[in-house]
Amino acid sequence: MNILLIGSGGREHALAWKLAASPMLTRLYAAPGNPGIAQEAELVALDIADHAAVAAFCKDKAIDLVVVGPEGPLVAGIGDDLRAAGIRVFGPSKAAAQLEGSKGFTKDLCARYGIPTAAYGRFDNAAEARAYVEKMGAPIVIKADGLAAGKGVTVAMTLDEALGAVDGCFDGAFGGAGASVVVEEFMTGEEASFFCLCDGKTALPFGTAQDHKRVGDGDVGPNTGGMGAYSPAPVMTPELIEQTMREIIEPTMRGMAEMGSPFAGVLFAGLMLTDKGPRLIEYNTRFGDPECQVLMLRLKEDLLVLLNAATDGQLAHVSARWRDEAALTVVMAAKGYPGTPEKGSVISGIDQAEASGARVFHAGTAVQGGKIVANGGRVLNVTATGKNVSEAQQKAYAAVDLVDWPEGFCRRDIGWLAVEREQRK
Ligand code: AMP
Ligand code: GLY
Repeated sequence: MNILLIGSGGREHALAWKLAASPMLTRLYAAPGNPGIAQEAELVALDIADHAAVAAFCKDKAIDLVVVGPEGPLVAGIGDDLRAAGIRVFGPSKAAAQLEGSKGFTKDLCARYGIPTAAYGRFDNAAEARAYVEKMGAPIVIKADGLAAGKGVTVAMTLDEALGAVDGCFDGAFGGAGASVVVEEFMTGEEASFFCLCDGKTALPFGTAQDHKRVGDGDVGPNTGGMGAYSPAPVMTPELIEQTMREIIEPTMRGMAEMGSPFAGVLFAGLMLTDKGPRLIEYNTRFGDPECQVLMLRLKEDLLVLLNAATDGQLAHVSARWRDEAALTVVMAAKGYPGTPEKGSVISGIDQAEASGARVFHAGTAVQGGKIVANGGRVLNVTATGKNVSEAQQKAYAAVDLVDWPEGFCRRDIGWLAVEREQRK
């Protein structure tokens, strides 16, 4: 099979690496890709926003399946446009991608199908949103409805902060994404990420993970796209997975089908494990980044077989087996991230880190004068496996220490909660 992979981050490097291992693969192309992905795929300089150009490339290269990594193109309808041109795509339709593209859409679906989630109000003007915030009181959570690159959520501990966040959204802090606002009950509990592969009818559980969103050790400082992750999430017992499937995932699949937008692709549920059971925080309609990196290291199956099954409505006939080991990834970021990162600094030692047994996925790199340089905020994902999270953590940090990059930084405590749990055993 000829495959076109869309995206350019660490998630896509992990997908490319796993797809490249498939005996079914003939040629792998990636657009736009990155220098790590280039080790596995032929990079193509396509404008992903130009769906007609992507379709023309697929026809020209006899692409059998397009795998879409990030949410942006999905919400923009790349799946629909390519399918209309007769091209097979792994990824949801524009209508189904609203599960990520509109927080209000997801909340309304939850209300309609009795899916456990935070109580909420949905508003398109500041006056009503402010009145609701004042009625509910703090702590409270304010969310821009649309895609805001992970920045549209304010967990407000005071009323002033909450009202400021409401005003910020309606004053255009998130552009069009903030024209509509969801105000939510504040939930407490441990967070976990739960993944399913979906084909419109069937949802196949596809692993659990936990990530670290804050930039600093001890989970402090500004939010980021994720500074590290590990899988499995020890807190997600088989019973909790079963309950999440029954109470959250299956009603979502049923609801989407009934509403005429069956969901096919990756359904990524952000869960809050409250004392009343798992509740949905939000959906994403793609793999997590960097959660995908740890899932791919643990997946025993041929990824291409599973993505084909999901694309063809055949998931009921396949299963996914996982290595018993844990996997952990440490994000190495350029100083300045999540603000404005410095670009262009030279990175060496990646080969030594890989020789130690870790896998280094490229997230934001470029090649300049034959050298690998930083070219983004999150730059490398140093990923390792071990018999438990503690061992995976040790191996990942041993590899991090072999990377020579003075202008980079990372958190030193990825996996701390799981490590503490393992030490208590
Ligand atoms: P989201 O972008 O919706 O995943 O939100 C980002 C983060 O905000 C989540 O990972 C949670 O830590 C926090 N969060 C979102 N919604 C809530 C909520 N209703 N209660 C408490 N924390 C929340
Ligand atoms: N790491 C969280 C996300 O991909 O949304």
